[in-house]
Amino acid sequence: MKKAIGIILVLATVIACCFAFAACNKETTGIEDGVLNVATNCYFEPFEYLDESGNPTGIDMDIAAALAKELGLTCKIKDMAFDSVVGSVASGQQDIAMAGLTVTNERKQSVDFTQTYFSSSQVVIAKNGSAILDVVAASDSEEDINSAIASIEAALKGKRIGVQNGTTGYAYVSGDSDDYEGIGATAVGYESGVLAVQALKNGTVDYVIIDAVPASKLVAAIEGIAASTVVLTGEDYAFAVKKGNTELLNKINKAMDKLIADGTIETIFSKYGLSSGLGE
Ligand code: ARG
Repeated sequence: MKKAIGIILVLATVIACCFAFAACNKETTGIEDGVLNVATNCYFEPFEYLDESGNPTGIDMDIAAALAKELGLTCKIKDMAFDSVVGSVASGQQDIAMAGLTVTNERKQSVDFTQTYFSSSQVVIAKNGSAILDVVAASDSEEDINSAIASIEAALKGKRIGVQNGTTGYAYVSGDSDDYEGIGATAVGYESGVLAVQALKNGTVDYVIIDAVPASKLVAAIEGIAASTVVLTGEDYAFAVKKGNTELLNKINKAMDKLIADGTIETIFSKYGLSSGLGE
């Protein structure tokens, strides 16, 4: 009898440990079993935007699907305001932020970044004929680029600049605690780049500042505006997971290595007319 109780106790302990282990495992990889929950903001063509049927599409969305497949997970996209994306991952409501997201020191305080997958920069959008568009770097030398940046920043001083809420464009204009000094201009925040451009067209703001590739999409789609060729910042995009979730971080990095090596990432970029610059 005693022996039987002993065996039952040992079994119960083993089973309890298994459950504890499974619970731990689940917590560190994702918020929902079998699902990769992705936070994004679908107003950032070509990285994420809504197709004609209102479904999220774009480079990041294709990468999300490829990563989920690689990890044996179902991909669930949550489209939200951009300034909620990082917080939703930091607070554990979503697993991963995939949103043309620039790696910044400020964000590193609340999330961990995967390897980077694209280089980007802020650029100015102005009304056609605006003098700021005449400023170009005389060559690719650092000196000429810096002098063009200085001229642009002088022209932006004291102006009202439309930016998307929560972006590095916003931080570049107004300054933040870790990454940007600010340029002495007023940032006027909008929910999307398109709304910022509308404000530019109706004269509410003097310029718009946004990432270069989305800027080229906006300029192609909306009449009367053009993008400056002067690159104001050097930024890298990466995905972000909850701080300390190294298990998911490692899985994503490993899956990315594989998708870069087998050409999947480059195929996705070229589908949208771009090159990732990875894998050469
Ligand atoms: N790269 C900029 C940032 O990280 C802008 C990203 C905006 N992304 C978006 N999906 N709306 O702040």
